[in-house]
Amino acid sequence: MSEDTKATKDTKDAEKMEKIVSLCKRRGFIFQSAEIYGGLNGCWDYGPLGTELKRNLKDYWWRKHVRERDDVVGLDGSILTHQEALKASGHVGGFSDPMVDCRTCKSRFRADQVCDHKCPEKPSKNPEENGCDLTEPRDFNLMFETKMGASAGEGATAYLRPETAQSIFVQFKNVCDQTGERVKMPFGIAQIGKAFRNEITTGNFIFRTREFEIMEIEFFVKPGEDEEWHKRWLDDCMSWYTDLGVSPDRLRVREHEGKELAHYAKATYDIEYQFPWGWGEIQGVANRTDFDLKAHSKASGTTLDYFDQEANERVVPYVIEPAAGVDRGLMAFLVDAYTEEEVATSSDKTETRVLLKFHPDLAPVKVAVLPLSRNEKLAPLAAEVYNMVRKSGAVNGFVQFDDAQSIGRRYRRQDEIGTPLCVTVDFDSLDDNAVTIRDRDTMNQVRVPIADLSAELAKGLSR
Ligand code: GAP
Repeated sequence: MSEDTKATKDTKDAEKMEKIVSLCKRRGFIFQSAEIYGGLNGCWDYGPLGTELKRNLKDYWWRKHVRERDDVVGLDGSILTHQEALKASGHVGGFSDPMVDCRTCKSRFRADQVCDHKCPEKPSKNPEENGCDLTEPRDFNLMFETKMGASAGEGATAYLRPETAQSIFVQFKNVCDQTGERVKMPFGIAQIGKAFRNEITTGNFIFRTREFEIMEIEFFVKPGEDEEWHKRWLDDCMSWYTDLGVSPDRLRVREHEGKELAHYAKATYDIEYQFPWGWGEIQGVANRTDFDLKAHSKASGTTLDYFDQEANERVVPYVIEPAAGVDRGLMAFLVDAYTEEEVATSSDKTETRVLLKFHPDLAPVKVAVLPLSRNEKLAPLAAEVYNMVRKSGAVNGFVQFDDAQSIGRRYRRQDEIGTPLCVTVDFDSLDDNAVTIRDRDTMNQVRVPIADLSAELAKGLSR
């Protein structure tokens, strides 16, 4: 690619990202945390539509990975974590990134990413290009430490969890004892929840934040079967994204090499998405071996192993860990769904239609009910249709009623927030007891009897 072509592409990518961030704020998906106080760095709040989108994403993941499988059960562990657990896992001693300070502008950078940052004093250059006076790298622990209860001694120290995995390992014995016969190895324990990392530098919108959510599974297998299961999980995880409509050509798998490999891992693959600024990890799939169970057994004095009835022996399972970021996944779905297309408004005019082509299972609003106007003759039937759609099991999600502004503007608004189907109640509906269903992607409209509406919506949402 020539320098000019690359510069144009970079500008377009930056513009696309700006448009998405602006849409997210304008339409109530994502807001800067504590914006009215100047913002809390690395933290974001999800607005009404962002909350629905995130909930749909997590529900879909839980449905596919727990409810529709026989070999995975759930856990909801505490966020505050015992310091001994995080000492045993290696986080207290080693969960750190190398950091450098600039003696000139007093900024702080990740030592391994200095070239990716802009010098605050000269944003056209990175700190090295600008000849910044940087300190030697030193380790910075990423965990948020806190004190529990009224006493402030060493014993009162706890941490906000940096990953959800550790409570799964710590509760391994309890889960095995309680689920007993029902779950046999290989089996997994899944968890969705918040994690906290005091990242040295945050950025790229919700990509690198200090508070985020993880959806992960610790999948326990017999040693020796770990490599086969690792491949299976990697394939399953890739399909999860493509089944939800992510373009396969914007996904890739990257294997961790040498120093990048975590202390507990035998092998790790990252699933990366091509964001407007480049490839970024959205999910890791690691082979954690028996490291964690052995470490917690040793530190706690409680044996964490599994009695394999077939082989009549106790084994410490190996662990395959698919760990996906909720916020990064959500951002990949947002970027992938963002579409601009030219549509004709008259014989010689066009306008740009912006739409989010979300998979219907993810769409924050599944169906919008739109009376043609606010005319009082239409109101009772429109309310009746809205209540019917809302309560219909066929829709299974958020239904919105909107009667403000022209119908054309309302269609564009629903396109922009990714609503797959709009139902329009018009004056003919009063006579023919039928309504119009409009499809977001094709803009096709079909007339259906109100009596068939639930079934038609279910059909339209099941792509
Ligand atoms: N238990 C393994 C684990 O936590 P990880 O790769 O460190 O693995 C899992 O994190 C996922 O969490 C990543 O693939 C990424 O999607 C997301 N993630 C990690 N750090 C993040 C951050 N600072 N901001 C947002 N998401 C993050």
